[in-house]
Amino acid sequence: MPTRRDAPLDPPPGLLRLNETAPLHRLRYPDGHEGWLITRHSLVRAVLADARFSARSELKRVPAPRPGADPFIGEPALPGWLVDMDRPEHTRIRRPISGPFTMRAVDRLRPRIRQIVDEHLSAMREQGPPADLVASFALPVPSLVICELLGVPYGSRAGFQRAGAVLFSLEVSAAQATEAMAELDGFLLDLVRHRRRRPGDDLLGRLVSGTDLGDEEIAGLGVLLLTAGHETTAGMLGLGTLALLTHPDQLAALRADPALLPGAVEELLRYLTIFHFGVPRTPLVDVELEGRLIRAGESVTLSLPAANRDPAAFDAPDVLDVTRSARGHVAFGYGVHQCVGQNLARAELEIGLGALLSGFPGLRLAVPVEDVPLAADSGFYGVHALPVAW
Ligand code: HEM
Repeated sequence: MPTRRDAPLDPPPGLLRLNETAPLHRLRYPDGHEGWLITRHSLVRAVLADARFSARSELKRVPAPRPGADPFIGEPALPGWLVDMDRPEHTRIRRPISGPFTMRAVDRLRPRIRQIVDEHLSAMREQGPPADLVASFALPVPSLVICELLGVPYGSRAGFQRAGAVLFSLEVSAAQATEAMAELDGFLLDLVRHRRRRPGDDLLGRLVSGTDLGDEEIAGLGVLLLTAGHETTAGMLGLGTLALLTHPDQLAALRADPALLPGAVEELLRYLTIFHFGVPRTPLVDVELEGRLIRAGESVTLSLPAANRDPAAFDAPDVLDVTRSARGHVAFGYGVHQCVGQNLARAELEIGLGALLSGFPGLRLAVPVEDVPLAADSGFYGVHALPVAW
């Protein structure tokens, strides 16, 4: 799969060109076997909504494994790790966590998110420029929010942020990733066992006392929510700010009319599509798609960045336009596995970017754009640091 980017905010040109030729393509995986790559928006959504395509990890092959690692996962899902499960097991794990992430539940969190955002921006302002926006703002805000929601002590962030970054990094060995997973799992398991003794009103506490999920399942789910809950939104806050700072006309439009903010967040999600290597699936039976036969067991990768830049779905898809409607984008996936945390991520992005733009009218990059360290080596695209001044 083409992975070399020419420009930091655009998917690899080789990937985008595929949309001009066909909706699906043969894809040679790093171990040499041939599978399929689907780039067209309508087909990506159709496959993600099609129960004949399995998400089970024992069948999945990932398109961008760690160097030297086997793309074939080959192991059943870890307990609670619902992203690797099919129905009905998937539903059993997902149902108990749907409530806290609905739009209404997230709306109730907004004042607290606003407070966390304001506190971090005030601290950054007090320290004075230049600042690393990732360390001062983009990483701590979603980390603190997900910690409070789950009931994970924020004081332990150094450990879980480091282990989380290892878990999603493609530069570390498979053994290091397994070690990071074991560390996170042990950490969450301790918290879950503690809740069994002293139940609390946070999400871990409610999963312990209000569901029939076992300790290992709640711990695994906790690892997934904790890591996906901060790495992703941090990536979007950093990269979204970089996108706006390098598109001054869009930044000016947004500053002139803050009512554009919710739409601008959707557009940034579409344009940047940080889940940049695509989503793996495996057909359980032979399936015909667009006149091509995909055999049961063949590896299929759905490219979310290519789908979100498909000209058949979005006019001038390579243009960042905060006034457009980006409805229907697949930055959060689609179908039964569509992101659990999407409403929370939207709220954090809207509140975070809104406060940053209004509170720092002179915000600018403190280094040339070429010097911004990009997280191309992580499963979620983003920036490792974003030096800014104001
Ligand atoms: C699933 C993207 C934020 C938790 C997904 C999927 C994508 C995605 C593409 C689908 C994966 C698949 O189909 O295999 C994003 C992006 C985010 C974000 C771009 C931020 C901008 C969050 C947050 C949380 C979260 C804040 C938790 C609080 C999850 C979980 C799943 C998931 C648990 C698995 C859902 C399932 O399998 O049913 N996310 N996510 N994500 N996301 Fe997010």
